[in-house]
Order: sequence, then structure tokens, then C-alpha cells
Amino acid sequence: MKIFLDTANLKEIKEAATLGVIDGITTNPSLLARESGDPEEILVEICRTVDGPISGEVVATEAEGMIAEGRHLASLHENIVVKIPCITEGLKATKVLAGEGKRVNMTLVFSPTQALLAAKAGARYCSPFVGRLDDIATPGMELIADIIQIFDHYDYDCEVLAASLRHPLHVVEAAKMGADIGTMPASVFNALMKHPLTDIGLKRFLEDWEKAKAELAAKATR
Ligand code: E4P
Repeated sequence: MKIFLDTANLKEIKEAATLGVIDGITTNPSLLARESGDPEEILVEICRTVDGPISGEVVATEAEGMIAEGRHLASLHENIVVKIPCITEGLKATKVLAGEGKRVNMTLVFSPTQALLAAKAGARYCSPFVGRLDDIATPGMELIADIIQIFDHYDYDCEVLAASLRHPLHVVEAAKMGADIGTMPASVFNALMKHPLTDIGLKRFLEDWEKAKAELAAKATR
């Protein structure tokens, strides 16, 4: 499963990128609004930091505006993927932009039918939001499973991008189901590597090593 970071924070992105396992970045207007600086410049800087798909979202709600914004966003950097909300106007805009060879990430997907239409319109990625469904007592992971099952029957060139992943268990479940991509905040990403037994085990290995070295050194001086 490809791992994307869901943030527009350059510090978080630069830090995580040093690990060499980040495949792309998703942003949204809320995430960009949290950062200081020009959103377009931030997007370009993200593209320079991570060589993978970088989603930048349109804010227009009519197809015409979405298309114009999408063309502009795509012109900023070759890594930019145009993120478009999964509404009727978004579907029209996706069809046009995909026809021009631009990659579209249909976002705010909350049902299998929306995902099916996103794929048919030519979206390169569709983003079902797991956590936001969990928030309203609807099992979000079931949506991922349904979409994967549907896409498995056909040849759509559309990757399932499990979004709104809120904790490591979401990541595990998405990977077990075969989601193509999981996008998550830096806090969740950072938690993926943590295990107390690894820390305890490493501490013990190093202590044993030091003890053995000290014993050898002591023997040598006798
Ligand atoms: C995905 O592209 C979205 O930006 C994101 O995953 C939303 O996550 P949230 O529901 O935790 O805000």
C-alpha cells in the first residue's frame, strides 16, 4: 500500500520524507488554511519535497470554475493532482480534466455509488473518508471494502485512496483489504513505527553488548 501524508505542513512533510517511505501528499482547503503563506507556493514546495502525487483541491463548486482551477493547479507542477469534490458538478469537471490527461482525485466519497461514478468519469484516485463515517456511527472501513470489491470486477484506472484514516488500526485494516493508498496525518504516520517491545529489546541488546565488552576489557587487563 502506498502511504500518503495528509497535511500541508512543510515541517511535517520534510521530516517524514527523510524516512523514504512517503509516496505522496494529500491536502485540502482546511489543511492549507492552517498554514501561513501563499497556498500555491506551499503546494509547489511540497511538490519539490516529495516526488509523487500531490493533491491540491479546487474550491469552485461549478464545473466551469473547477475546470479552470484544475487547469491552473495542474500547471503549477507536474506532481499536482487536482482534487475535486464528489458532487455532480465535480463529475462533469473530472470528465473534462481527465480527458485532457490531468490526474483527478475525487474526494469526499462516502458511498460505493459515488466511487463507481468517479471511476467512470476518469478519476485517477477516489478518496473514501473512513474516519468521518466512523464519526457518524457508520463503519467507514466497510466502504473501503465495498469499493475494492466493485473495482476488482472492472478495469478502471482508478486507485482506492483510503482517506480520513485516524489511527494505526485504520491503516492496518486498509492495507489488509488491499487499498491502493492510505493517507494519514503525521501523528498517525509517526505512530506506525512505534512498538514498546522494540524499544525494550533494543535497550537490552545494547546493555548486553556493553556488559560483554566491559567483561572482555576487564579480562584483557588481568
Ligand atoms: C483526504 O484527502 C482528506 O484530506 C482527509 O483524509 C480528511 O481527514 P479528516 O476527516 O481526518 O479531516
